Amino acid sequence: MSVYTIVLAAGKGTRMNSDLAKVLHRAAGRTLVDWVLASVAPLEPARVVVVVGHQADSVVAGLPAGVESVLQEPQNGTGHAVQVGMAYLGDVAGDDVVVVCYGDTPLVPASVYLDLASRAGRAAAAMVTVDPGEPGTGRVIRDETGAVTGVVEERDCDFEQAQITERNAGIYAFRASALLAALGKLRPDNSQGELYLTDVIAELVGAEETVEVVAAHSDDVIGVNSHDQLATVQGRIRRRINHELMQSGVWMLDPDKTYVDADVTVAAGARIYPGTHIQGSSTVATGAQVGPDAFVVDSAVGAGSIVWYSVVRQSSVGEGASVGPFASLRPGSALERGSKVGTFVETKNTTVGERAKVPHLAYMGDATIGEGANVGAGSITCNYDGYEKHPTVIGADAFIGSDTMLVAPVSIGEGAVTGAGSVITTDVEPGALAVERSPQQDIPGYAGRRAARRRSRDAEKGT
Ligand code: UD1
Ligand code: MG
Repeated sequence: MSVYTIVLAAGKGTRMNSDLAKVLHRAAGRTLVDWVLASVAPLEPARVVVVVGHQADSVVAGLPAGVESVLQEPQNGTGHAVQVGMAYLGDVAGDDVVVVCYGDTPLVPASVYLDLASRAGRAAAAMVTVDPGEPGTGRVIRDETGAVTGVVEERDCDFEQAQITERNAGIYAFRASALLAALGKLRPDNSQGELYLTDVIAELVGAEETVEVVAAHSDDVIGVNSHDQLATVQGRIRRRINHELMQSGVWMLDPDKTYVDADVTVAAGARIYPGTHIQGSSTVATGAQVGPDAFVVDSAVGAGSIVWYSVVRQSSVGEGASVGPFASLRPGSALERGSKVGTFVETKNTTVGERAKVPHLAYMGDATIGEGANVGAGSITCNYDGYEKHPTVIGADAFIGSDTMLVAPVSIGEGAVTGAGSVITTDVEPGALAVERSPQQDIPGYAGRRAARRRSRDAEKGT
């Protein structure tokens, strides 16, 4: 017996008011459909097919490798979508199991899918219900013995059916032979003139087949139709991720205000303060402190380092290094062990060597800063001539005086010093002092003469 999965994702998502296809909205760095695919993965499906319709091209482009798709055009209801999915799958054996789920319902635990699939091995179908369910969802109809006999959509309900609180979640597993037989009998005789997948349930019961129910928690079957629901889903995923991280030994001051993407790795013993976003493929090693208020994207934060009130993108922060407060590490910044990029400092495509320091108010772009070097406040690399970028090399243990302009390409030798306020346009040899500024003039008695002039002017005016 094999398991096949059909993910329905052809609907429009009107209420998102967004150009982005609904299932491509993200929660904790993954698209909604990726979350669904991750939840069904433990079924080890032989094939997974996503039924697409609205914005089909972008949905297909956003699917991971190995996931198939089929176009449903026009979108004539959930029953039609599954017909299209089954036709695409083609040769499915009668006793294979087909799991149907929604691409916009990302929180369903894998255990629910596994439970459904195992029941569909015995019964003709198993469906997920929630009680009480959301407004607008289909009512689950049971007979006097409690057996499920069908599902009625809200808009097709009579008064009594409308009072039923047990609702259809829209997630099912079917024995393939039973599904195919029932799909063939669907008729669009409902208020929307569509083929309803829910009618398959009544068809199966009418054919003396059994339908089992898996009761789920309503929090686990939230479908995303609006940005409000997307925020709810993001919050639940955030709590799951943070719970797991804390269980594993990560310290968080306030998990409700800590935003870690699903594919980030945070080691036990790391400390995360609120207002921190750690995204993409980032890693945080043990003993590191991230935040308050940090944005770390696709970056590695080393053991025992600190990154606070700062933005770090596609960069690495070495062991024991220090970033911020208020630093911006742009792509390609590599801070080696024990180095520092401090307050109001921007770096780009720059290596800061071991123990080297750029403590205040600086811009280092396309630079290589040697071990133990110190870059004084207000210093910048003039790396861009308006056409091209040029490199700057600062040797080990060099001392760049405050407010030095390093006009690239330029190289400062090992242990060399630049005088504060210098504009350095040519290479400086190791151990030398390079100073470029006008000689200072002192004019004795100037301040007193100036004050006297002021006093006599005031006396003339009579003030
Ligand atoms: C459906 C169920 C309802 C259930 C509810 C749970 C039917 C007839 N009704 O209602 O019993 O309580 O889900 O959320 O099944 N889709 C397609 N192609 C289509 C139509 C829909 O792929 O032609 C996809 C949508 O993208 C969506 C899912 O199927 O992912 C459900 O469609 P939707 O229109 O939201 O169904 P509901 O009316 O909410
Ligand atoms: Mg819906």
